[in-house]
Amino acid sequence: MSPTVDAAAPAGDAILRRQRIRESAARTYARSFPIVPVRAHGMTVEGADGRRYLDCLSGAGTLVLGHNHPVVLAAIRRTLDSGAPLHLLDLATAEKDDFTTALFESLPPAFADRARVHFCGPAGTDAVEAALKLMRTATGRRGALAFTGAYHGMTAGALAVTGSVTAAPPARGDVTRLPYPYPYRCPFGVGGRLGAELSATYTERLLDDPSGGVDAPAAMILEAVQGEGGVVPAPDDWLRAMRRITAERGIPLIVDEVQTGVGRTGAMWAVEHSGITPDAMVLSKAIGGSLPLAVVVYREEYDAWQPGAHTGTFRGNTLAMAAGAATLRYVAAHGLVARSAELGARMTARLAALRDRLPVVGDVRGRGLMMGVELVDPAGTPDACGALPADPALAVRVREACLRRGLIVELGGRHDTVLRLLPPLTITDEQAEAVLDRLADAVEAAARSAA
Ligand SMILES: Cc1ncc(COP(=O)(O)O)c(C=O)c1O
Repeated sequence: MSPTVDAAAPAGDAILRRQRIRESAARTYARSFPIVPVRAHGMTVEGADGRRYLDCLSGAGTLVLGHNHPVVLAAIRRTLDSGAPLHLLDLATAEKDDFTTALFESLPPAFADRARVHFCGPAGTDAVEAALKLMRTATGRRGALAFTGAYHGMTAGALAVTGSVTAAPPARGDVTRLPYPYPYRCPFGVGGRLGAELSATYTERLLDDPSGGVDAPAAMILEAVQGEGGVVPAPDDWLRAMRRITAERGIPLIVDEVQTGVGRTGAMWAVEHSGITPDAMVLSKAIGGSLPLAVVVYREEYDAWQPGAHTGTFRGNTLAMAAGAATLRYVAAHGLVARSAELGARMTARLAALRDRLPVVGDVRGRGLMMGVELVDPAGTPDACGALPADPALAVRVREACLRRGLIVELGGRHDTVLRLLPPLTITDEQAEAVLDRLADAVEAAARSAA
């Protein structure tokens, strides 16, 4: 890519102006990153003005191989050149067959050996809807158990199990909210392992309390590491407790791996850290190799739908299946899962050093290459666990300072105060150093500008 300023720069400004007046007020990333990407390769994105950025957002965790990986492009080109139909509802194709093989080979054998897959509409939220609906059909029950801080998507059912309290509240009638372990901002005000233990105890006792107000639910849905919720990893013991509690009560456990899948957390699938076998897994983002694709995979005893019970026009995206199969196999064959674990641990240790040095960094956490830095107001009053108040204005300044330094990092979590690092698994050591240097510099500069 040329380092010189691109002749398209003025066109970029015009595009941004038109976007502002033509697109909805709900524009999100476009507000955080007012750039017009014209080229991208690996973790580098080049804007119309010729500026280059290291992309630590990766399509909200989608691009595990970065932008336009040669293996992905080759799979797409091969499919295009083959004359295969690009849109096929849910008909059988060689590409779908191959994707399904690659997917099942990648899943934990104890789960995959007795599993079925349903191809859903193309977004993660579609697969969440499908999983909840399937379990309602299979159990004949209605309710769902979901967690504080959860994010499952933007369609009605997925929004109902999402934790965020929005300006347009969804109907959550059938959802029982349970406390997710979050040591820094512990829902029980105790923190550490004890907070996770109390969450498990509370869940178990609530479900067994005949006056607890909870009807037998159709499913529990959870993320092994909450992503949009602020990069909050659940302890493995807690996940095993949830598996035991749900299994003992005949409640199907759905694990939403839309963001955690395909090596992101240092395991191919985040459930592998705890060794639990869920009843269903919801998968999207990386499985399409940067193109839209979503599935729910579930244990065969829940295969309760009648033909046509969950249809949809866009369930046969041939290009996404080819790109997804290539991605799954590349991640497995090139040691990217171990690389995610190893480099993620190193980067997290460097971020932890930043926390020890800079009072505005309240907490650093993550798993593999899914890392979070929680920004706080050091002048505020700590809560019972020592957590300082969130500082949303500082977080915005840090995001802007990162962008000025050529680093794309988005915010998430409570009050949008967690910097979320989701680099591609192909990130080099040099790029990791550059990310950490730019981030540290940006946090220091933003903190100074407040003082
Ligand atoms: C855990 C999780 N579930 C579901 C979704 C929804 O996916 P989509 O945005 O493709 O609908 C997301 C999106 O970020 C997610 O992180």
